[in-house]
Amino acid sequence: MDGQGEEHFIPVARLSDLDERGRAVVRVGEEWVALVQVEGRLHAVQQACPHRGGPLSEGDQDGCLLYCPLHAWAFDVRTGDSPTHPGARVRIYAVRVIGDEIQVAASGRLPVP
Ligand code: FES
Repeated sequence: MDGQGEEHFIPVARLSDLDERGRAVVRVGEEWVALVQVEGRLHAVQQACPHRGGPLSEGDQDGCLLYCPLHAWAFDVRTGDSPTHPGARVRIYAVRVIGDEIQVAASGRLPVP
């Protein structure tokens, strides 16, 4: 066993819960998590910007880059890294869709610096 198949996924929303931009904010354990769709694929990142807590789900998007609505720090939703502020990172979560149910891995992870 390599451990990869042991990730615990929890249901957080349905596809119909996504807004017109393909986004939703859901609760995963103790944390609010933003679901963000990029070219039909869902990604999950922590909702609170690591700078001053801005709501990332409300930010502008350019492909895989999500811009915080407060001070425009950018984060790559695939990796959690910030190309505009190296060293700043957001927690990312594995996402899967079963039928119309969106499931997120219970344990998020920070990208490797
Ligand atoms: S709170 Fe997000 S960039 Fe400042």
